[in-house]
Amino acid sequence: METVVSGIRSTGNLHLGNYYGALQNFIKMQDEYNCFFFIADLHSLTTHPTPADLHGNVKQVLIEYLAAGIDPEKATIYVQSDVPEVTELYLYLNMNAYMGELERATSFKDKVRANPENVNAGLLTYPVLMAADIIIHKAVKVPVGKDQEQHLEMARTFGNRFNRLYNHDYFPEPYAFSFGDSLVKIPGLDGKGKMGKSEGEGNAIFLSDTPEAIRKKVTRAVTDSGPTVENQQKPQEIQNLFDLMKVVSTPDTLAHFDELYNKMAIRYGDLKKQLAEDMVLATAPIRDRINAIANDADYLRKVAEMGADKARESASRTIREVREIIGFRKF
Ligand code: TRP
Repeated sequence: METVVSGIRSTGNLHLGNYYGALQNFIKMQDEYNCFFFIADLHSLTTHPTPADLHGNVKQVLIEYLAAGIDPEKATIYVQSDVPEVTELYLYLNMNAYMGELERATSFKDKVRANPENVNAGLLTYPVLMAADIIIHKAVKVPVGKDQEQHLEMARTFGNRFNRLYNHDYFPEPYAFSFGDSLVKIPGLDGKGKMGKSEGEGNAIFLSDTPEAIRKKVTRAVTDSGPTVENQQKPQEIQNLFDLMKVVSTPDTLAHFDELYNKMAIRYGDLKKQLAEDMVLATAPIRDRINAIANDADYLRKVAEMGADKARESASRTIREVREIIGFRKF
């Protein structure tokens, strides 16, 4: 069975965009691949979180991914810092990662531009740690978004460089992977592009939002003053609401409001009310599970321990072999 690895950023709560995007990939993949999904808490140290924030974020991410459908009996879900073998491989890979190529990485340049006062070495070697995350399990498929394409290319470079240096066909090449092209793009509520947590207050519906919070956000979604001719093309902010409806409402409901729009008889207030209720319904099971798991410290501990054990079993096998290949040998 092919191995899959993906790292989950330990910042921010999951929103509908994450849920209908990357997460659906994970959920499908856990049935067909040997999956390792981990919470990238070591990576988050580049921005110096407080200990309480760090722990709280990791816990929240673990809770939400479990609640949304990652099954710890199928996939190995673990916290990155629970697997010290990753940092050991990171050190080895760093010896053959060059300043020039690290400085040229787009994500590094973006971060330097955004935070010129915090250009630390961890930021520079972020792609090396990410490569270690992936190749420590000899993964070949990595479900990530387009923005991670360059990091994956670097992971292939570092793995291949190791293989060449030690003349050993050891690490396979990992590639970005998306499960079919069935993924839907989830727009935000601000009338512009996609849903995102950094797009401003009210743009995203979080899986942990209360029904009241969902209703309030949808009520405030951006609309226009209504159609002016029959069957006209919808402007983006209106199309966005219909696209959201396509995801959470029934086809009949969607057709109903589409018809009203085309006849110029639509009332956005009604559409929003329906959309909000269908969002509340769609997220209810996840919300219930979030609330149930959040207070189940035993379960969370068990899941994290089981994940760490499984991940370390795989990672320590690699480290044992890598040490041998490098020349760290017993007397
Ligand atoms: N860099 C990824 C992101 O920002 C997170 C990540 C860290 C990751 N290590 C990984 C993703 C390994 C896939 C595989 O989303």
